[in-house]
Amino acid sequence: MAKSFYLTTAIDYLNGQPHLGHAYEKIITDVLARAQISLGERVFFLTGLDEHGQKVQQAAMAEGKSPQAYCDDLAVEWRALPGALNLRISDFVRTTEPRHRRVVQAVLTKLEKEGHFYKAEHSGFYSARQETFLTEKDRLQDGSFDPFYGEVIALTEENYYFKLAPHQDWLIRHIEENPSFVSPEHRRNEVLGFLKNNKLEDLCVTRPRSRLGWGIPVPFAPDYVTYVWFDALVNYISVPADHGDPEVCAALALPAACEGVEPWEVWPANIHVVGKDILKFHAVYWPIMLKAIGLSLPTRILAHGWWQRDGQRMSKSTGNTVDPLAVVAEWGIDAFRYYVVRELAIGSDGNWTDAGFAARYHSELANGLGNLVNRSLSMLHRYRDGVVLRKSDDLAAEAASAASETASHLRDCQPQAALQALWSLITRANQYVDQTAPFKLAKDPTQAIRLDEVLYTLVETCRVLAVLLWPFIPATAEKIYAQLGIDAAPDEFARSSWGGLKVGHKIGPIAPLFPRKDQPKPGS
Ligand code: ME8
Ligand code: MG
Repeated sequence: MAKSFYLTTAIDYLNGQPHLGHAYEKIITDVLARAQISLGERVFFLTGLDEHGQKVQQAAMAEGKSPQAYCDDLAVEWRALPGALNLRISDFVRTTEPRHRRVVQAVLTKLEKEGHFYKAEHSGFYSARQETFLTEKDRLQDGSFDPFYGEVIALTEENYYFKLAPHQDWLIRHIEENPSFVSPEHRRNEVLGFLKNNKLEDLCVTRPRSRLGWGIPVPFAPDYVTYVWFDALVNYISVPADHGDPEVCAALALPAACEGVEPWEVWPANIHVVGKDILKFHAVYWPIMLKAIGLSLPTRILAHGWWQRDGQRMSKSTGNTVDPLAVVAEWGIDAFRYYVVRELAIGSDGNWTDAGFAARYHSELANGLGNLVNRSLSMLHRYRDGVVLRKSDDLAAEAASAASETASHLRDCQPQAALQALWSLITRANQYVDQTAPFKLAKDPTQAIRLDEVLYTLVETCRVLAVLLWPFIPATAEKIYAQLGIDAAPDEFARSSWGGLKVGHKIGPIAPLFPRKDQPKPGS
């Protein structure tokens, strides 16, 4: 079996409820994953939870629970998120699982044995909130530390450090030689600038158990637990190891897949999707960890921007978060998926407003796509009993160019541009209705053949659109296929070729895809 196309999201800290930012990251990753499925790849899509460390321990204490009990309770809600967002995940990792812990410990053991670590005492300022040591350089002009760091305390501590300096040169070269290793471009320049202008400081990979108990025990140092970021990054290989990935299992001398189970070849990752705030962990520390372990590097680290709401940082204290599940309950999952992908290019920051969301819903989904499908299919029912009688190629060329542009933007990790490209076909088809005026043709018996052609063109365009839309709004694409009376899923890009509907085909019953919500309900 060939290697699967492997995509990951960041794993979320279990210290609160899922918000728009978390949902956004999962949805863009799912769009890229489904695009690969549609293009014929076998896909492995991993997401999950980051459960160790100070943030989670503090959140548990605040609720008077043990960290494990706190995580197990809250994980129920998070575990439901992929289903609610209609993600095609292949696995879901929790860093408290034994299958993850054994790989973290295998990595630590190997790197210790091969001389990558040393033990040293360090005095400095420590931010518990960000779990990081700060230096004088991190002080603001007025001598204080950014409120982002929370309370900062003076601390002297012995820990294990990972030597990073020997890796700096090859990493710079790797990023220079592989332009898509970090994208988008301006993020890549940022990482290169950082690497070229700073000497990498060694990474502290442990925390004394006496100060922070909630972590993975360090196999060679019983008084320590693993630094949460070192633990968390390893999720990207611990799950492949659990599925018997040959490269990861060999590098860590782990037993391959269980007897009778075919190993699933997934490493290296094709795309790690992460937020811009955690790019340094993924573009600097993670490649160095992989190189030290002896593993291939991921192909691409894709850094997305951050959402605000009404121009302000989303935060629980001010209550201005967007609850993705509430939006989904009110508007439907595909309206939410559509909006977040359409609104932002990957890399840009976004600003959620309820009015902006409703505006796109009505103009693009209800009037644009929904109206096209509804009027095309209902005219075929009304004028031809739901049966296509004659082929036509009126929009074949437009459909083919929309399809090839959509695919190429998706391959390029630009789902917003892909959506815009395919939307041009919706706009064109709605124009075509106005230009050909099938409701007039229907009144003139001498135009019967022309009406057959126009109806074919419209219904076939809806079919092509279902295939192109599937990575973005899969449930809607599947509804369109069902309304077309096609007994298959629109999940293969190859089906977007013009001419799939055969003469004599009868479509199914229809229903509005995106009902308008700005008109008073009848009777109210
Ligand atoms: O950073 N807009 O977890 P996390 C867009 N556990 N994205 C946002 C966002 C916003 N307002 N807020 C958060 C962690 N995110 C670590 C990751 S990976 C080995 C460990 C994104 O729960 C954020 O950028 O703080 C990150 O990619 C993800 O949500 C999880 O953030
Ligand atoms: Mg964060």
